[in-house]
Amino acid sequence: MEKLSFTKLIFIVSLAMASSALDYFPEGYFNSSDLTKITWAHAVNTKQLLETNLKDSSIQMLEADLVIGTLTNSNETTVIMAHPPANTSDLSFEMFLNQTMEHNRNLTVENRKGIKLDFKEFPAAEASLAILASFNGTDSEGLRFPIWINADILAGPVNGSTDVKVNGTRLIQLQQEHLPQSTLSLGWTTRFGRQSSGEVITNGSYTREQVDEMANVIKAAFTTDSEKSNAQVTFPLRAGIALNSVENINYLLDQAGINFSSPSVTLWEGGDDPILDRPLLDQFVEAINRNRVFLDLPRSLGNDTSASFPLNPNFFLVFSLVLVLLMMLFR
Ligand SMILES: *[C@@H]1O[C@H](CO)[C@@H](O)[C@H](O)[C@H]1NC(C)=O
Ligand SMILES: *[C@@H]1O[C@H](CO)[C@@H](O)[C@H](O)[C@H]1NC(C)=O
Ligand SMILES: *[C@@H]1O[C@H](CO)[C@@H](O)[C@H](O)[C@H]1NC(C)=O
Ligand SMILES: *[C@@H]1O[C@H](CO)[C@@H](O)[C@H](O)[C@H]1NC(C)=O
Ligand SMILES: *[C@@H]1O[C@H](CO)[C@@H](O)[C@H](O)[C@H]1NC(C)=O
Ligand SMILES: *[C@@H]1O[C@H](CO)[C@@H](O)[C@H](O)[C@H]1NC(C)=O
Ligand SMILES: *[C@@H]1O[C@H](CO)[C@@H](O)[C@H](O)[C@H]1NC(C)=O
Ligand SMILES: *[C@@H]1O[C@H](CO)[C@@H](O)[C@H](O)[C@H]1NC(C)=O
Ligand SMILES: *[C@@H]1O[C@H](CO)[C@@H](O)[C@H](O)[C@H]1NC(C)=O
Ligand SMILES: *[C@@H]1O[C@H](CO)[C@@H](O)[C@H](O)[C@H]1NC(C)=O
Repeated sequence: MEKLSFTKLIFIVSLAMASSALDYFPEGYFNSSDLTKITWAHAVNTKQLLETNLKDSSIQMLEADLVIGTLTNSNETTVIMAHPPANTSDLSFEMFLNQTMEHNRNLTVENRKGIKLDFKEFPAAEASLAILASFNGTDSEGLRFPIWINADILAGPVNGSTDVKVNGTRLIQLQQEHLPQSTLSLGWTTRFGRQSSGEVITNGSYTREQVDEMANVIKAAFTTDSEKSNAQVTFPLRAGIALNSVENINYLLDQAGINFSSPSVTLWEGGDDPILDRPLLDQFVEAINRNRVFLDLPRSLGNDTSASFPLNPNFFLVFSLVLVLLMMLFR
Protein backbone atom coordinates (compact mmCIF):
# COMPACT_ATOMS: atom_id res chain seq x y z
CA MET A 1 0.00 0.00 0.00
CA GLU A 2 2.78 2.41 1.05
CA LYS A 3 4.81 1.36 -1.98
CA LEU A 4 1.92 1.73 -4.37
CA SER A 5 1.19 5.30 -3.39
CA PHE A 6 4.88 6.21 -3.59
CA THR A 7 5.14 4.77 -7.12
CA LYS A 8 1.99 6.65 -8.03
CA LEU A 9 3.45 9.87 -6.68
CA ILE A 10 6.65 9.41 -8.72
CA PHE A 11 4.52 8.76 -11.79
CA ILE A 12 2.43 11.88 -11.30
CA VAL A 13 5.50 14.01 -10.63
CA SER A 14 7.32 12.77 -13.74
CA LEU A 15 4.19 13.28 -15.82
CA ALA A 16 3.90 16.84 -14.56
CA MET A 17 7.58 17.49 -15.28
CA ALA A 18 7.38 16.01 -18.76
CA SER A 19 4.34 18.03 -19.78
CA SER A 20 5.55 21.30 -18.28
CA ALA A 21 8.83 20.96 -20.18
CA LEU A 22 6.90 21.07 -23.44
CA ASP A 23 5.96 24.71 -23.11
CA TYR A 24 9.44 26.12 -22.84
CA PHE A 25 11.21 25.45 -26.11
CA PRO A 26 8.73 26.75 -28.67
CA GLU A 27 9.78 28.54 -31.87
CA GLY A 28 11.41 31.46 -30.11
CA TYR A 29 12.64 29.06 -27.45
CA PHE A 30 12.07 30.80 -24.15
CA ASN A 31 8.82 32.42 -25.12
CA SER A 32 7.29 31.68 -21.81
CA SER A 33 5.57 33.52 -19.08
CA ASP A 34 7.64 31.68 -16.45
CA LEU A 35 11.36 31.34 -17.12
CA THR A 36 11.99 30.11 -13.57
CA LYS A 37 10.67 26.71 -14.72
CA ILE A 38 13.54 26.14 -17.15
CA THR A 39 15.72 23.43 -15.61
CA TRP A 40 19.52 23.53 -15.46
CA ALA A 41 22.50 21.26 -15.11
CA HIS A 42 25.49 23.22 -13.86
CA ALA A 43 29.19 22.69 -14.70
CA VAL A 44 28.70 19.95 -17.30
CA ASN A 45 32.44 19.67 -17.89
CA THR A 46 33.13 15.94 -18.18
CA LYS A 47 32.13 13.12 -20.55
CA GLN A 48 30.26 11.43 -17.74
CA LEU A 49 28.26 14.53 -16.77
CA LEU A 50 27.45 15.33 -20.38
CA GLU A 51 26.21 11.82 -21.01
CA THR A 52 24.14 11.74 -17.81
CA ASN A 53 22.55 15.12 -18.43
CA LEU A 54 21.82 14.55 -22.11
CA LYS A 55 19.90 11.43 -21.08
CA ASP A 56 18.04 13.22 -18.29
CA SER A 57 14.76 14.41 -19.75
CA SER A 58 14.12 16.67 -16.76
CA ILE A 59 17.06 18.92 -17.76
CA GLN A 60 16.64 21.60 -20.42
CA MET A 61 19.78 23.74 -20.23
CA LEU A 62 23.38 22.55 -19.83
CA GLU A 63 25.77 25.08 -18.35
CA ALA A 64 29.48 24.43 -18.92
CA ASP A 65 32.83 26.19 -18.57
CA LEU A 66 35.37 26.64 -21.34
CA VAL A 67 39.10 27.32 -21.21
CA ILE A 68 42.12 26.68 -23.40
CA GLY A 69 43.84 23.55 -22.14
CA THR A 70 44.68 19.96 -23.01
CA LEU A 71 42.67 16.77 -23.22
CA THR A 72 43.61 14.03 -20.77
CA ASN A 73 46.57 12.06 -22.18
CA SER A 74 47.20 14.59 -24.89
CA ASN A 75 49.60 17.50 -25.26
CA GLU A 76 47.61 19.27 -27.95
CA THR A 77 46.12 22.61 -26.88
CA THR A 78 42.45 23.17 -27.65
CA VAL A 79 39.22 24.48 -26.11
CA ILE A 80 38.26 22.12 -23.31
CA MET A 81 35.40 21.95 -20.83
CA ALA A 82 36.89 22.82 -17.43
CA HIS A 83 36.64 25.37 -14.68
CA PRO A 84 39.82 27.25 -13.76
CA PRO A 85 42.26 26.52 -12.26
CA ALA A 86 41.75 23.14 -14.00
CA ASN A 87 43.20 23.15 -17.51
CA THR A 88 42.78 19.51 -18.45
CA SER A 89 39.58 17.61 -19.17
CA ASP A 90 38.35 14.43 -20.81
CA LEU A 91 35.92 16.57 -22.84
CA SER A 92 36.81 19.07 -25.54
CA PHE A 93 34.38 21.74 -26.75
CA GLU A 94 34.18 20.04 -30.14
CA MET A 95 33.18 16.77 -28.47
CA PHE A 96 30.68 18.59 -26.26
CA LEU A 97 29.11 20.37 -29.22
CA ASN A 98 29.16 17.31 -31.45
CA GLN A 99 27.39 15.16 -28.86
CA THR A 100 24.83 17.82 -28.02
CA MET A 101 24.06 18.35 -31.71
CA GLU A 102 23.73 14.61 -32.28
CA HIS A 103 21.48 14.29 -29.25
CA ASN A 104 19.26 17.16 -30.39
CA ARG A 105 19.21 16.26 -34.05
CA ASN A 106 16.10 14.13 -34.27
CA LEU A 107 14.19 15.67 -31.40
CA THR A 108 11.31 18.10 -31.63
CA VAL A 109 12.33 21.66 -30.81
CA GLU A 110 10.84 21.62 -27.33
CA ASN A 111 12.83 18.52 -26.35
CA ARG A 112 16.22 19.78 -27.43
CA LYS A 113 18.79 20.71 -24.81
CA GLY A 114 20.14 24.22 -24.81
CA ILE A 115 23.72 25.09 -23.87
CA LYS A 116 25.20 27.95 -21.90
CA LEU A 117 28.89 28.31 -22.67
CA ASP A 118 30.74 30.13 -19.93
CA PHE A 119 33.97 31.58 -21.32
CA LYS A 120 36.57 32.22 -18.66
CA GLU A 121 39.01 33.89 -21.05
CA PHE A 122 38.86 35.61 -24.42
CA PRO A 123 40.95 33.09 -26.46
CA ALA A 124 38.51 30.32 -25.50
CA ALA A 125 35.58 32.43 -26.72
CA GLU A 126 37.34 33.34 -29.94
CA ALA A 127 38.25 29.74 -30.75
CA SER A 128 34.81 28.41 -29.81
CA LEU A 129 32.90 30.96 -31.85
CA ALA A 130 35.04 29.98 -34.84
CA ILE A 131 34.15 26.33 -34.22
CA LEU A 132 30.45 27.22 -33.91
CA ALA A 133 30.66 29.26 -37.11
CA SER A 134 32.15 26.33 -39.01
CA PHE A 135 29.40 24.02 -37.76
CA ASN A 136 26.88 26.69 -38.77
CA GLY A 137 28.47 26.77 -42.22
CA THR A 138 28.19 23.03 -42.80
CA ASP A 139 25.22 22.08 -40.66
CA SER A 140 23.13 25.11 -39.69
CA GLU A 141 20.06 22.90 -39.11
CA GLY A 142 22.02 21.01 -36.47
CA LEU A 143 22.49 24.20 -34.44
CA ARG A 144 18.82 24.89 -33.90
CA PHE A 145 18.76 24.90 -30.13
CA PRO A 146 19.46 27.62 -27.55
CA ILE A 147 23.14 28.59 -27.50
CA TRP A 148 24.24 31.11 -24.90
CA ILE A 149 27.56 32.92 -25.12
CA ASN A 150 28.47 33.86 -21.55
CA ALA A 151 31.35 35.86 -20.09
CA ASP A 152 32.13 38.30 -17.33
CA ILE A 153 32.88 41.50 -19.18
CA LEU A 154 32.87 44.08 -16.36
CA ALA A 155 34.28 44.31 -12.85
CA GLY A 156 31.47 43.86 -10.35
CA PRO A 157 30.73 43.39 -6.66
CA VAL A 158 31.91 43.03 -3.98
CA ASN A 159 34.32 46.00 -3.77
CA GLY A 160 36.10 45.72 -7.08
CA SER A 161 36.52 42.07 -7.91
CA THR A 162 39.19 40.22 -9.82
CA ASP A 163 40.41 41.33 -13.22
CA VAL A 164 38.12 41.10 -16.21
CA LYS A 165 39.45 38.62 -18.77
CA VAL A 166 36.98 39.13 -21.62
CA ASN A 167 36.56 42.36 -23.57
CA GLY A 168 32.78 42.68 -23.95
CA THR A 169 32.88 44.86 -27.04
CA ARG A 170 35.05 42.33 -28.88
CA LEU A 171 32.96 39.41 -27.64
CA ILE A 172 29.78 41.02 -28.96
CA GLN A 173 31.51 41.75 -32.31
CA LEU A 174 32.54 38.09 -32.63
CA GLN A 175 29.13 36.82 -31.61
CA GLN A 176 27.42 39.10 -34.13
CA GLU A 177 29.82 38.03 -36.85
CA HIS A 178 29.71 34.27 -36.19
CA LEU A 179 26.49 33.38 -34.44
CA PRO A 180 24.06 36.31 -34.33
CA GLN A 181 21.13 34.15 -33.31
CA SER A 182 22.76 32.96 -30.14
CA THR A 183 21.98 34.63 -26.82
CA LEU A 184 24.50 36.98 -25.26
CA SER A 185 24.90 36.42 -21.56
CA LEU A 186 26.92 39.33 -20.20
CA GLY A 187 27.96 39.56 -16.59
CA TRP A 188 30.32 40.97 -14.00
CA THR A 189 33.26 39.38 -12.20
CA THR A 190 32.32 38.86 -8.55
CA ARG A 191 33.82 38.22 -5.13
CA PHE A 192 31.40 36.39 -2.87
CA GLY A 193 31.32 33.50 -0.43
CA ARG A 194 34.61 31.95 0.73
CA GLN A 195 37.69 33.58 -0.74
CA SER A 196 41.07 31.88 -1.15
CA SER A 197 42.35 34.24 1.57
CA GLY A 198 39.88 32.63 3.98
CA GLU A 199 37.69 35.74 4.06
CA VAL A 200 33.96 34.99 3.74
CA ILE A 201 31.81 37.58 1.96
CA THR A 202 28.12 37.14 2.64
CA ASN A 203 26.69 40.48 1.62
CA GLY A 204 26.94 42.88 -1.29
CA SER A 205 24.95 44.31 -4.14
CA TYR A 206 25.09 45.27 -7.80
CA THR A 207 25.41 49.04 -7.75
CA ARG A 208 23.71 51.59 -9.97
CA GLU A 209 27.09 52.46 -11.52
CA GLN A 210 27.72 48.81 -12.37
CA VAL A 211 24.36 48.30 -14.05
CA ASP A 212 24.68 51.61 -15.91
CA GLU A 213 28.05 50.50 -17.23
CA MET A 214 26.48 47.28 -18.55
CA ALA A 215 23.55 49.10 -20.15
CA ASN A 216 26.08 51.39 -21.86
CA VAL A 217 28.16 48.51 -23.24
CA ILE A 218 25.21 46.95 -25.00
CA LYS A 219 23.78 50.26 -26.18
CA ALA A 220 27.16 51.16 -27.70
CA ALA A 221 27.58 47.74 -29.33
CA PHE A 222 24.15 47.73 -30.96
CA THR A 223 23.46 51.00 -32.66
CA THR A 224 20.47 50.48 -34.93
CA ASP A 225 17.01 49.68 -33.64
CA SER A 226 16.83 46.57 -35.77
CA GLU A 227 20.14 45.30 -34.32
CA LYS A 228 18.78 45.96 -30.86
CA SER A 229 15.45 44.29 -31.35
CA ASN A 230 17.14 41.17 -32.81
CA ALA A 231 19.73 40.83 -30.07
CA GLN A 232 18.92 38.33 -27.37
CA VAL A 233 20.46 39.36 -24.09
CA THR A 234 20.48 37.96 -20.57
CA PHE A 235 22.50 39.16 -17.59
CA PRO A 236 23.97 36.46 -15.36
CA LEU A 237 23.86 37.53 -11.72
CA ARG A 238 25.43 35.89 -8.71
CA ALA A 239 22.28 35.08 -6.78
CA GLY A 240 23.47 35.94 -3.26
CA ILE A 241 24.39 39.42 -4.47
CA ALA A 242 21.42 39.90 -6.78
CA LEU A 243 18.86 39.31 -4.01
CA ASN A 244 20.10 42.55 -2.41
CA SER A 245 19.88 44.49 -5.65
CA VAL A 246 16.25 44.31 -6.75
CA GLU A 247 15.92 48.00 -7.52
CA ASN A 248 19.07 48.22 -9.64
CA ILE A 249 18.28 45.00 -11.50
CA ASN A 250 14.81 46.22 -12.35
CA TYR A 251 16.39 49.45 -13.55
CA LEU A 252 18.90 47.52 -15.71
CA LEU A 253 16.17 45.45 -17.34
CA ASP A 254 14.06 48.53 -17.94
CA GLN A 255 17.05 50.28 -19.52
CA ALA A 256 17.87 47.30 -21.70
CA GLY A 257 14.20 46.76 -22.43
CA ILE A 258 13.79 50.15 -24.09
CA ASN A 259 14.90 48.72 -27.41
CA PHE A 260 16.19 45.23 -26.80
CA SER A 261 13.55 42.54 -27.07
CA SER A 262 12.93 40.64 -23.83
CA PRO A 263 16.13 41.05 -21.83
CA SER A 264 16.32 38.78 -18.80
CA VAL A 265 18.55 37.88 -15.87
CA THR A 266 19.92 34.46 -14.96
CA LEU A 267 20.65 33.81 -11.31
CA TRP A 268 23.57 31.45 -10.65
CA GLU A 269 25.45 30.43 -7.51
CA GLY A 270 29.02 29.40 -6.80
CA GLY A 271 29.80 25.97 -5.38
CA ASP A 272 30.74 27.48 -1.99
CA ASP A 273 28.18 30.27 -1.82
CA PRO A 274 25.82 30.35 1.15
CA ILE A 275 22.53 28.56 0.39
CA LEU A 276 19.96 31.19 -0.56
CA ASP A 277 17.19 32.35 1.69
CA ARG A 278 14.10 30.99 -0.06
CA PRO A 279 11.64 33.76 0.89
CA LEU A 280 14.17 36.35 -0.30
CA LEU A 281 14.56 34.48 -3.60
CA ASP A 282 10.79 34.34 -4.04
CA GLN A 283 10.55 38.07 -3.37
CA PHE A 284 13.22 38.73 -6.00
CA VAL A 285 11.40 36.64 -8.59
CA GLU A 286 8.10 38.38 -7.89
CA ALA A 287 9.70 41.84 -8.01
CA ILE A 288 11.57 41.23 -11.29
CA ASN A 289 8.82 39.07 -12.81
CA ARG A 290 8.87 35.39 -13.72
CA ASN A 291 9.04 36.18 -17.40
CA ARG A 292 12.46 37.80 -16.90
CA VAL A 293 14.28 35.46 -14.48
CA PHE A 294 16.09 32.19 -15.22
CA LEU A 295 17.16 30.22 -12.12
CA ASP A 296 20.35 28.20 -12.59
CA LEU A 297 20.47 27.29 -8.89
CA PRO A 298 20.88 23.52 -8.52
CA ARG A 299 22.16 23.81 -4.92
CA SER A 300 19.65 26.23 -3.46
CA LEU A 301 16.73 24.65 -5.29
CA GLY A 302 17.85 21.21 -4.16
CA ASN A 303 18.38 19.50 -7.50
CA ASP A 304 22.13 19.48 -7.77
CA THR A 305 23.09 16.48 -9.86
CA SER A 306 26.79 17.27 -9.90
CA ALA A 307 27.33 17.75 -6.17
CA SER A 308 24.95 15.24 -4.65
CA PHE A 309 26.40 12.48 -6.84
CA PRO A 310 30.09 13.25 -6.95
CA LEU A 311 30.66 9.51 -7.26
CA ASN A 312 29.76 7.42 -10.21
CA PRO A 313 26.16 6.19 -9.64
CA ASN A 314 27.50 2.67 -10.13
CA PHE A 315 29.32 3.19 -6.86
CA PHE A 316 26.01 2.97 -5.00
CA LEU A 317 25.12 -0.25 -6.78
CA VAL A 318 28.48 -1.84 -5.95
CA PHE A 319 28.27 -0.49 -2.41
CA SER A 320 24.81 -2.05 -1.88
CA LEU A 321 25.94 -5.38 -3.32
CA VAL A 322 28.97 -5.46 -1.04
CA LEU A 323 26.75 -4.59 1.92
CA VAL A 324 24.32 -7.41 1.11
CA LEU A 325 27.25 -9.79 0.68
CA LEU A 326 28.69 -8.78 4.06
CA MET A 327 25.31 -9.19 5.74
CA MET A 328 25.01 -12.68 4.29
CA LEU A 329 28.53 -13.60 5.39
CA PHE A 330 28.16 -12.38 8.97
CA ARG A 331 24.59 -13.43 9.60
C1 LIG B 1 5.00 33.96 -27.95
O1 LIG B 1 4.44 33.08 -28.90
C2 LIG B 1 3.12 33.38 -29.24
C3 LIG B 1 2.61 32.28 -30.16
O2 LIG B 1 3.57 31.92 -31.11
C4 LIG B 1 3.09 34.76 -29.93
O3 LIG B 1 1.77 35.08 -30.25
C5 LIG B 1 3.65 35.79 -28.95
O4 LIG B 1 3.71 37.04 -29.56
C6 LIG B 1 5.01 35.39 -28.48
N1 LIG B 1 5.47 36.30 -27.44
C7 LIG B 1 6.67 36.84 -27.42
C8 LIG B 1 6.97 37.72 -26.26
O5 LIG B 1 7.51 36.63 -28.28
C1 LIG C 1 48.04 24.02 -17.16
O1 LIG C 1 48.38 24.43 -15.87
C2 LIG C 1 49.69 24.03 -15.49
C3 LIG C 1 49.89 24.37 -14.03
O2 LIG C 1 49.46 25.65 -13.76
C4 LIG C 1 50.70 24.74 -16.42
O3 LIG C 1 52.00 24.34 -16.09
C5 LIG C 1 50.39 24.38 -17.87
O4 LIG C 1 51.23 25.11 -18.75
C6 LIG C 1 48.95 24.67 -18.19
N1 LIG C 1 48.64 24.16 -19.53
C7 LIG C 1 48.03 24.90 -20.47
C8 LIG C 1 47.80 24.22 -21.78
O5 LIG C 1 47.69 26.05 -20.29
C1 LIG D 1 53.36 15.84 -28.08
O1 LIG D 1 53.63 14.48 -27.83
C2 LIG D 1 54.17 13.78 -28.94
C3 LIG D 1 54.31 12.33 -28.59
O2 LIG D 1 53.88 12.03 -27.34
C4 LIG D 1 55.51 14.41 -29.30
O3 LIG D 1 56.05 13.75 -30.44
C5 LIG D 1 55.32 15.88 -29.61
O4 LIG D 1 56.54 16.51 -29.85
C6 LIG D 1 54.61 16.59 -28.45
N1 LIG D 1 54.30 17.94 -28.87
C7 LIG D 1 54.54 18.97 -28.08
C8 LIG D 1 54.13 20.31 -28.64
O5 LIG D 1 54.99 18.87 -26.97
C1 LIG E 1 30.42 13.91 -34.53
O1 LIG E 1 31.46 12.99 -34.62
C2 LIG E 1 31.15 11.84 -35.38
C3 LIG E 1 32.30 10.88 -35.29
O2 LIG E 1 33.52 11.53 -35.45
C4 LIG E 1 30.86 12.26 -36.81
O3 LIG E 1 30.53 11.13 -37.58
C5 LIG E 1 29.71 13.23 -36.79
O4 LIG E 1 29.47 13.70 -38.09
C6 LIG E 1 30.02 14.38 -35.89
N1 LIG E 1 28.85 15.20 -35.78
C7 LIG E 1 28.87 16.48 -35.94
C8 LIG E 1 27.59 17.21 -35.73
O5 LIG E 1 29.89 17.06 -36.21
C1 LIG F 1 18.41 10.88 -36.94
O1 LIG F 1 17.62 10.62 -38.09
C2 LIG F 1 18.38 10.26 -39.24
C3 LIG F 1 17.45 10.18 -40.45
O2 LIG F 1 16.22 9.68 -40.08
C4 LIG F 1 19.09 8.94 -38.95
O3 LIG F 1 19.86 8.57 -40.06
C5 LIG F 1 20.00 9.14 -37.74
O4 LIG F 1 20.60 7.91 -37.37
C6 LIG F 1 19.23 9.67 -36.54
N1 LIG F 1 20.18 10.05 -35.53
C7 LIG F 1 20.01 9.75 -34.24
C8 LIG F 1 21.07 10.25 -33.31
O5 LIG F 1 19.07 9.14 -33.84
C1 LIG G 1 33.51 47.00 0.95
O1 LIG G 1 33.80 48.38 1.10
C2 LIG G 1 33.01 49.00 2.10
C3 LIG G 1 33.28 50.46 2.08
O2 LIG G 1 34.65 50.72 1.87
C4 LIG G 1 33.33 48.35 3.45
O3 LIG G 1 32.55 48.93 4.45
C5 LIG G 1 33.03 46.87 3.36
O4 LIG G 1 33.41 46.22 4.54
C6 LIG G 1 33.78 46.22 2.21
N1 LIG G 1 33.32 44.85 2.07
C7 LIG G 1 34.13 43.83 1.76
C8 LIG G 1 33.52 42.49 1.68
O5 LIG G 1 35.31 43.99 1.53
C1 LIG H 1 37.92 46.35 -25.98
O1 LIG H 1 38.04 46.22 -27.38
C2 LIG H 1 37.70 47.39 -28.07
C3 LIG H 1 37.63 47.05 -29.55
O2 LIG H 1 38.72 46.29 -29.94
C4 LIG H 1 38.71 48.47 -27.71
O3 LIG H 1 38.39 49.66 -28.40
C5 LIG H 1 38.67 48.70 -26.22
O4 LIG H 1 39.67 49.60 -25.83
C6 LIG H 1 38.86 47.42 -25.45
N1 LIG H 1 38.58 47.64 -24.05
C7 LIG H 1 39.41 47.32 -23.09
C8 LIG H 1 38.98 47.62 -21.70
O5 LIG H 1 40.48 46.80 -23.32
C1 LIG I 1 24.28 30.81 -39.07
O1 LIG I 1 24.68 31.56 -40.18
C2 LIG I 1 23.62 32.19 -40.88
C3 LIG I 1 24.15 32.79 -42.16
O2 LIG I 1 25.27 33.58 -41.91
C4 LIG I 1 22.99 33.21 -39.96
O3 LIG I 1 21.91 33.86 -40.60
C5 LIG I 1 22.49 32.50 -38.71
O4 LIG I 1 21.97 33.43 -37.82
C6 LIG I 1 23.61 31.71 -38.06
N1 LIG I 1 23.09 30.91 -36.96
C7 LIG I 1 23.08 31.32 -35.70
C8 LIG I 1 22.56 30.34 -34.70
O5 LIG I 1 23.47 32.41 -35.35
C1 LIG J 1 23.78 44.05 2.81
O1 LIG J 1 24.17 44.99 1.81
C2 LIG J 1 23.15 45.89 1.44
C3 LIG J 1 23.63 46.73 0.29
O2 LIG J 1 25.00 46.64 0.08
C4 LIG J 1 22.74 46.73 2.64
O3 LIG J 1 21.69 47.56 2.28
C5 LIG J 1 22.29 45.79 3.76
O4 LIG J 1 22.03 46.52 4.90
C6 LIG J 1 23.35 44.76 4.08
N1 LIG J 1 22.82 43.77 5.01
C7 LIG J 1 23.49 43.32 6.03
C8 LIG J 1 22.82 42.31 6.88
O5 LIG J 1 24.63 43.70 6.28
C1 LIG K 1 13.97 52.90 -29.43
O1 LIG K 1 13.29 52.62 -30.63
C2 LIG K 1 12.48 53.67 -31.12
C3 LIG K 1 11.78 53.20 -32.36
O2 LIG K 1 11.61 51.82 -32.39
C4 LIG K 1 13.33 54.87 -31.38
O3 LIG K 1 12.49 55.94 -31.79
C5 LIG K 1 14.07 55.28 -30.12
O4 LIG K 1 14.95 56.33 -30.41
C6 LIG K 1 14.85 54.12 -29.57
N1 LIG K 1 15.38 54.50 -28.26
C7 LIG K 1 16.61 54.27 -27.88
C8 LIG K 1 16.99 54.71 -26.51
O5 LIG K 1 17.42 53.70 -28.59
